[in-house]
Amino acid sequence: MKISVIGCGYLGAVHAASMVSLGHDVVGIDVDPSKIESLSAGRAPFFEPELPELLAAGIASGRLRFSTDIADAAGSQVHFVAVGTPQLKTGGGADLTYVDAAFTSLLPHVASGDLLVGKSTVPVGTAARLAALVEPTGAKLAWNPEFLREGYAVKDTVTPDRLVYGIGPGETASVDLLNEVYATAVAAETPVVITDYATAELVKVAANAFLATKISFINAMAEIAEVTGADVTQLADAIGYDARIGRRFLNAGVGFGGGCLPKDIRAFTARAEELGRGESVAFLKEVDAINLRRRQRAVDMVVEELGGSVFRRKVAVLGLAFKPNSDDVRDSPALDVAVQLHGLGANVVATDPEAIPNSRRLHPQLTLGTLDEALDGADAVVLLTEWNQYRELDPAAVAAQVAQPLVIDGRNALDAEAWRAAGWTYRGLGRR
Ligand code: UDX
Repeated sequence: MKISVIGCGYLGAVHAASMVSLGHDVVGIDVDPSKIESLSAGRAPFFEPELPELLAAGIASGRLRFSTDIADAAGSQVHFVAVGTPQLKTGGGADLTYVDAAFTSLLPHVASGDLLVGKSTVPVGTAARLAALVEPTGAKLAWNPEFLREGYAVKDTVTPDRLVYGIGPGETASVDLLNEVYATAVAAETPVVITDYATAELVKVAANAFLATKISFINAMAEIAEVTGADVTQLADAIGYDARIGRRFLNAGVGFGGGCLPKDIRAFTARAEELGRGESVAFLKEVDAINLRRRQRAVDMVVEELGGSVFRRKVAVLGLAFKPNSDDVRDSPALDVAVQLHGLGANVVATDPEAIPNSRRLHPQLTLGTLDEALDGADAVVLLTEWNQYRELDPAAVAAQVAQPLVIDGRNALDAEAWRAAGWTYRGLGRR
């Protein structure tokens, strides 16, 4: 099929390249010329495993191209809109400027019978409003939320665990077109939920709200564990054996960040309040508050272990990305903790395998360096993003590098016994 993808960020660039790998012919469009230049040369503008290979193969096949001109969407039968919906600067709501601009600029170039497919995460009610704008063109609108995780974005797009099609009343032709786009996944019997716009929009925010709640639940247990001498990791293992609960997403630590969970729960709360149902999701404010408290707890633990002040003490921060296998530092707990320690006068040297350029752009005041530069002579080592290379560090070798063998494990990712056996003072969040 001929497909256009409007917006080539984390979502759109992966979607465009993945659609080519499924056999389609794709043009990716973005207003940012530097992004388009990079993608056209086969370079991913951000770190995402498997994406560089897909881009190279797609461009070589002649079925993947990129453009800054929205008119190049003309001639495609299906148009995906995958632009960002960041948090408004003035509150928790979602900023729909980019979604609205994408639709307004795209509409003059669509033909009757085309299908416009929203992938962006939007407040419930947005698709119905946009459908009224699309209608006069003779094209149709579907809402098809995306559940991809950064770090696994290609896999999640090519082999999704479910597909959700939000369509207008009686628009079965839209279902047929989407089934053709996702023919490979449909043939593999991937569950497909065919529903209305509102449900499709809500599925996405409900899924993210649930995941955020699960993480904050275990982090709340970590707070209780800290005052009772219990161990949150063992607690998570024990409740996780109950199949109804499950062990995944029960890792206590400095909490969730990234471009999705934090802003999506805030936008959901804002939208529910607009709908007069604020009380239904009032707990999400608590989920957000617990999450932010854990960052503070990590900072406090470093201060506490360094005897009440971090002033001029060298602190090695391992990890800046919001999670491993990503260079994304949007709302990153790791970057936040590093900045707070720096603000308290610590001599922070932070490192990350992929996220240094993005961190430098946001916080040029931080000292960023290699792993060795961070560890050499450190008074405290603080693990904040559980990259494999940090999990696999040899505690004995690192002990020889630092000034003082003190490690704060902000992700409960290290083998506490092994580090203690090598002479370290080990502190985890919510652990004995
Ligand atoms: C999330 C959703 O998982 C995905 O379905 C949606 O499409 C976009 O938002 P992503 O932001 O890539 O994906 O990251 P995810 O893997 O969900 O992790 C989110 C955050 O939660 C990270 O900061 C991670 O470190 C943290 N986390 C995750 C925990 O603190 N504990 C856990 O047990 C799991």
